Amino acid sequence: MAKMQKSGVIAVTGGSQGIGAAIAIELARRGFSIVSLSRSGRTPGALQQEPVTVRRRFKGMVCDVTDARSVKTAIAAAAVKGLRGVVNSAGIVSGGPAREYALADFEAVLRTNVVGVFSVCQAAYPHLVKNGGGLIVNLGSFWDQMGIKNYAAYCASKAGVASLTRSLGVEWAKQGIRVLNVAPGFLESPMETGAEAIDQERQAKFLASRLPGGRKGTLTEIARVVAGLYTEDVGFLNATTIYVDGGQGPAM
Ligand SMILES: NC(=O)c1ccc[n+]([C@@H]2O[C@H](COP(=O)([O-])OP(=O)(O)OC[C@H]3O[C@@H](n4cnc5c(N)ncnc54)[C@H](OP(=O)(O)O)[C@@H]3O)[C@@H](O)[C@H]2O)c1
Repeated sequence: MAKMQKSGVIAVTGGSQGIGAAIAIELARRGFSIVSLSRSGRTPGALQQEPVTVRRRFKGMVCDVTDARSVKTAIAAAAVKGLRGVVNSAGIVSGGPAREYALADFEAVLRTNVVGVFSVCQAAYPHLVKNGGGLIVNLGSFWDQMGIKNYAAYCASKAGVASLTRSLGVEWAKQGIRVLNVAPGFLESPMETGAEAIDQERQAKFLASRLPGGRKGTLTEIARVVAGLYTEDVGFLNATTIYVDGGQGPAM
């Protein structure tokens, strides 16, 4: 039977909203203590609907993943009672025609989505080793293997996350640290419906006609997958990408 570990601290970057918040709340429901790291340091609004036992397991902390010093301090504070794992959900998206896309914008996407993930993993490493190992889950995207017009920086960043996951998972396996990349398809969430997201009407038609299930994924579905990785503790699952896209990737 799978070994169930339902306690310990998990640091969740981007836990203040969206996918990170859904994951953090699901993990707290399952018994883990959560330290949510974001620039605002806010706890998600949805947490208020949870029972006090869940709310008590949740703490918000200010941290900018693009600032290595901020990351080191926050992860050290989160790890005081022993770090069981890290979820890297903090991310940004921006788009525009490649011919005129500002290099500063390209760098900003890579800085948050790739360097930020690496920085958090690096800061967590000594604490996870001290705790006998642990699990790092990164949030990638099914766009990591695609060519998407106007999203060169974002796609490159998610390919980078998939690659980082493979390298760190291999490099740290002997220390008992596993690294996984959960790559969602189109989801209902603030990032995806933001001002810079792809045209909504066009997307709705596309989703209805081309995608196997005819719908977007939900935050809850991603949260359950990630939480299950912590509770089921499948030690042989490492250094790989798990696509949670309703078959959208294979269907393209
Ligand atoms: N939504 C989708 O459809 C979708 C699909 C595939 C993959 N993903 C990936 O899933 C992850 C989460 O997406 P989401 O939709 O939940 O995004 P979101 O709703 O925009 O939330 C982003 C989170 O990241 C935090 N954040 C952003 N920059 C940060 C920084 N420099 N330092 C610390 N925290 C930072 C934000 O909090 P603050 O603003 O307070 O810092 C917020 O909590 C991202 O990596 C995204 O690429 C999303």
